[in-house]
Amino acid sequence: MALPALGLDPWSLLGLFFFQLLLLLLSPLTAESGGQGPMPRVKYYAGDGRRALSFFHKKGLQDFDTLLLSGDENTLYVGAREAILALNIEDPGVPKLRNMIPWPASDKKKSECAFKKSNETQCFNFIRVLVSFNATHLYACGTFAFSPACTFIGLQDSNLIPISDKVMEGKGQSPFDPAHKNTAVLVDGMLYSGTMNNFLGSEPILMRTLGSQPVLKTDTFLRWLHPDASFVAAIPSTEVVYFFFEETASEFEFFEKLHTSRVARVCKNDVGGEKLLQKKWTTFLKAQLLCTQPGQLPFNVIRHAVLLPADSPSVPHIYAVFTSQWQVGGTRSSAVCAFSLVDIENVFKGKYKELNKETSRWTTYSDSEITPRPGSCSVGPSSDKVLTFMKDHFLMDKQVVGTPLLVKSGVEYTQLAVETAPGLDGHDHLVMYLGTSTGSLHKAVVSGDGDAYLVEEIQLFPDPEPVRNLQLAPTQGALFAGSSGGVWRVPRANCSVYESCVDCVLARDPHCAWDPESQICRLLSAPNLNSWKQDMERGNPGWACANGPMGRSHRPQSRPQIIKEVLAVPNSILELPCPHLSALASYHWSHSQAALPEASSAVYNGSLLLLPRDGVGGLYQCVATENGFSYPVVSYWVDSEEQALALDPELAGIPRERVEVPLTRVGGGAAVAVQRSYWPHFLVVTVLLALVLSGALIVLLASPLGALRARGKVQGCGSPPPGEKAPLSREQCLQPHKDCRTSVSDTDADSRLGTEVA
Ligand SMILES: *[C@@H]1O[C@H](CO)[C@@H](O)[C@H](O)[C@H]1NC(C)=O
Ligand SMILES: *[C@@H]1O[C@H](CO)[C@@H](O)[C@H](O)[C@H]1NC(C)=O
Ligand SMILES: *[C@@H]1O[C@H](CO)[C@@H](O)[C@H](O)[C@H]1NC(C)=O
Ligand SMILES: *[C@@H]1O[C@H](CO)[C@@H](O)[C@H](O)[C@H]1NC(C)=O
Repeated sequence: MALPALGLDPWSLLGLFFFQLLLLLLSPLTAESGGQGPMPRVKYYAGDGRRALSFFHKKGLQDFDTLLLSGDENTLYVGAREAILALNIEDPGVPKLRNMIPWPASDKKKSECAFKKSNETQCFNFIRVLVSFNATHLYACGTFAFSPACTFIGLQDSNLIPISDKVMEGKGQSPFDPAHKNTAVLVDGMLYSGTMNNFLGSEPILMRTLGSQPVLKTDTFLRWLHPDASFVAAIPSTEVVYFFFEETASEFEFFEKLHTSRVARVCKNDVGGEKLLQKKWTTFLKAQLLCTQPGQLPFNVIRHAVLLPADSPSVPHIYAVFTSQWQVGGTRSSAVCAFSLVDIENVFKGKYKELNKETSRWTTYSDSEITPRPGSCSVGPSSDKVLTFMKDHFLMDKQVVGTPLLVKSGVEYTQLAVETAPGLDGHDHLVMYLGTSTGSLHKAVVSGDGDAYLVEEIQLFPDPEPVRNLQLAPTQGALFAGSSGGVWRVPRANCSVYESCVDCVLARDPHCAWDPESQICRLLSAPNLNSWKQDMERGNPGWACANGPMGRSHRPQSRPQIIKEVLAVPNSILELPCPHLSALASYHWSHSQAALPEASSAVYNGSLLLLPRDGVGGLYQCVATENGFSYPVVSYWVDSEEQALALDPELAGIPRERVEVPLTRVGGGAAVAVQRSYWPHFLVVTVLLALVLSGALIVLLASPLGALRARGKVQGCGSPPPGEKAPLSREQCLQPHKDCRTSVSDTDADSRLGTEVA
């Protein structure tokens, strides 16, 4: 045989062949496409121990739709289907049930509902409004089997007092249909609500109830709201209450139903008109909200909005999530925009739009010299001229233009919560928690230049369902999310997942900083920790994690912390894993600071596959490059069983530990011995190899005559039979025709494998 002449024993050749075969079989892994926009740096699947969530649930309860935090932040009130709960959230871990009161729809209403609706799954009391009314009472409204109802609920030491039979009509405060969106906010003892006001869901209303002031409503006849208006948020300001909603736009001529996002506004001191607009708003105005980015479809469907509590010195802003009405390639896109309250106020101080009744077109109304200014909070109930004007001038001419902070395709954001986190640098960093339509949570941080990056993504619910609500409890350091099955508590951050200073700093989570003394990435609590390390501005560990004098440098930090020693076993494939800590980093392997030996190594799914041969021993490092900074994630020293390699003097003094890595043996007498199987591919390889071996065996054992006969049949198959074209004959050859099949397995095995593999 010629093999010894090549200087290779048959087994190592077989090993090499096996290795190459394996590389061919391992289909290239395409990077998971996260769509356009920032990628979450780390992703946790449901149940990941690194981001342990606590889950409250109770048998028989479902649809935990409404959340309300008590003033002292120790209790979370939850509106579930036909019940209201008080949860004690003082301690970390699973919220504890303080008490629970049932609030089912009456049997009469349920049977009426079942008669009118074919779908009885909706004939329950779904809680839709839950607000704190005064020190001793909550106020709650529910769909009450398609017959909205409201009630006061007494409190005693944060416990709920069972509802007496005093239940009030809740039309205009809660929707009839649990599938309809609604919003409500309590201001100065009055409830401002936006919802559907009828059974069919064709009459939206914006209403004020409770308290001493008169009940006020939008006028349905004057079409202040389009019949499909869907309310997502109500936010009070000093003089006015803002409502955020989506509706079909009537001011644009468009070939299809065009959705648009709106902000509407009513004055808190509105008392309705005396002669005109009796019991109606006299200060209702609305404007278009615009959230767009060049090159993207407009994000025209608002999903949720929140005000950042204004203890910051700057202008208060409203943050809102939008999706697009249109899809690109089957996926939706989302955006988060910030709206300055000043911009919103200015639009409401500007020109109005007017409907030309003859042409049904909206035009700018230019000469508005009426005083007091229509729609302003100084309008009295009896200025008939102003009220007449208000009847058809409720749409503002200018749009409120938002600043996009985050645009992400392939994701549909449904909810958000925002807060500011003081960093070590003394700046407040804006943190946004974004819930998606598939039950994930994105923690986004807005950097100095106004763009957001995603620190992490957490899959909250094991089964995908939209995040219905998010409630931040800042003093508890947690976020709560309700789902169909229960309430989830999500700690703001788990800094200990970042195990090194480099990882801790690269994460750029304002809640985490590196404590060099204890060598732990810690939750920032008090902002006076000068020795702790964080670089929110640039995320540069070269600066933040330097021991010596600090200078911003991007020089790779090549000295590893620890070296893992691996013993190479002849004729076996070593798998050297490399944990991918960050989705934002790029990873590459180096061998003793140089390129990898090509013939005997390959990178698959981040791991280095190595077939140890002469000269492949030495240092292997998986190097991550993120944010312009390179660092070794893991360093291996591969030792040969036969000859010990001299240690690189540069690596002296670094602690070493011997580790076992996944190993696949080839050869050694038996045909193939797979010690540990890491890929299902190996099964295929084994089968194929057995095929090759048995084929070779047949060739070796068969007489020269037999071999000749086989060759003759191959030729017979190859030449086209008379009257047939060549391609057909090949197919015929592959058919289970006895003669042809034997010849293929005899001599064509190698090339056939080649085509299957490729
Ligand atoms: C935080 O991460 C550490 C390290 O991965 C883990 O051991 C711990 O359980 C996590 N804690 C929480 C609350 O998720
Ligand atoms: C009933 O309504 C629920 C919730 O809206 C929906 O998931 C379900 O498919 C509906 N069932 C029928 C029979 O229409
Ligand atoms: C709170 O409101 C309820 C319902 O109107 C009322 O009965 C109760 O007296 C009020 N409590 C206080 C402390 O004002
Ligand atoms: C790739 O590696 C990761 C962890 O390193 C593992 O969870 C995953 O299953 C691997 N994928 C394949 C296709 O081997």
